[in-house]
Amino acid sequence: MDNKTKRSSFSGSIGFVLAAAGSAVGLGNIWRFPYLAAKDGGGMFLLVYIILALTFGFTLLITEVAIGRKTKQSPLTAYGRLHKRWSWLGTVACLVPVLILPYYCAIGGWVVKYFWVFLTGGCSAAAQDGYFTGFITGQFEPVLTMMIFLAAVAFVVFRGVNKGIEASSKVLMPLLLVFVVVISIFSLTISHTDESGVTRTGVEGFGVYVIPNFDGMTVQSFLSVLVDAMGQLFFSLSVAMGIMIAYGSYLKDDANLKSSINQIEIFDTVVAFLAGVMIIPAVYTFGGAEGMASSGPELMFVTLPKVFDKMGAIGGVMGTLFFAMVLFAALTSAVSILEAIVSSFMDKFKLSRTKATAVETLTALAVGLIVCFGYNIFYFNYQLPNGTNAQILDILDYASNNLLMPIVAIGTCILVGWILKPKTIIDEVEKTGCKMGRKRLYIVMIKFVAPVLLAILLLKSMGV
Ligand code: PHE
Repeated sequence: MDNKTKRSSFSGSIGFVLAAAGSAVGLGNIWRFPYLAAKDGGGMFLLVYIILALTFGFTLLITEVAIGRKTKQSPLTAYGRLHKRWSWLGTVACLVPVLILPYYCAIGGWVVKYFWVFLTGGCSAAAQDGYFTGFITGQFEPVLTMMIFLAAVAFVVFRGVNKGIEASSKVLMPLLLVFVVVISIFSLTISHTDESGVTRTGVEGFGVYVIPNFDGMTVQSFLSVLVDAMGQLFFSLSVAMGIMIAYGSYLKDDANLKSSINQIEIFDTVVAFLAGVMIIPAVYTFGGAEGMASSGPELMFVTLPKVFDKMGAIGGVMGTLFFAMVLFAALTSAVSILEAIVSSFMDKFKLSRTKATAVETLTALAVGLIVCFGYNIFYFNYQLPNGTNAQILDILDYASNNLLMPIVAIGTCILVGWILKPKTIIDEVEKTGCKMGRKRLYIVMIKFVAPVLLAILLLKSMGV
């Protein structure tokens, strides 16, 4: 099959924007962004994050999408197309999604489980101490739910760019947004009086979230806010793992790249912000300010079920809506991870979509089993260089997010900024006659600022 003439494309820029936003909006928006915002002085963090999104985030995202559209290649082959001696970067970029997919599907399985439990009226059961640990240390259920999640992801990718990825994003992303808005509004209306007679309201919790807190702010603590925001943004935009190159390669030549990138960033940031509006007031109302001390799986699968349970009957409904929304976010992200790999196999090894999907799905299943068994049969506790305790899932997460992704992003900045020159990307963006805007900023960012920021991120996650 001749890939050049047969390459699929999104039907229009809305399809592309929703698919890319589907990738960007994922677990990170929901379980990490609100936590960081609460920890890092509310409004301060939001401000730093938005400024970084418009500069650093914009630069990385537009670069990858433009590389995809220019080369019309998947990540594995695109870098080699740009420069023969840089094809190794494509290999590393393609390795990242291969490492991420299995554990992302394991977590997707946890979401499936919680959605099901809430849907079938098990809100109180899920709020019991030890429920989550009991679930993930089981040998059967986590494997079953992972397989259900992976099967859904594989089905979408197997259906292809238009009938699978674009069609599912066009349904799931608007639904996700509606659910997020409904839960956010609800969260702002709640109030609760605890045993000691203290009443807290959702609106007060919202204040904790958005009002900047400069108490005890030092240069040191500002820098740590900056690094937190940068790390979060980097993960949230799904860059440095080939996804945006793959999706960019399906973008038609007449699409306006700049406005599409802006829309993706707005979508991603709005959902991250609203995730905070959903979660922080609710956790604050039922648990006080210290309730926001958890993030990641603990926030989602331990803290929040307890909050939903305390809400009474409506908690079951809100919990069901919430986990449905998380499921949509996780599905569209996992689809993008699988697509980056499948498109790579198709371009490099000239496999059909069906074969490429089958090969990678089976691989992810095999590794996913090992990840699930990391909490029982293969259990061990390993301390990572950044000081956290890790099981198999966390090790894969660390290797991909903290080591390989910064390396891919730094490599991309050097290749584009210094070897090919930024003009390559600017010309690609402007070839349809649209103005890129922020051009000088782009050049300074890609050559100097972004690589330096990324190097700081890399050193920090290596524990330096
Ligand atoms: N960008 C997604 C988020 O913010 C996560 C993600 C990671 C998506 C890796 C795809 C691949 O949660």
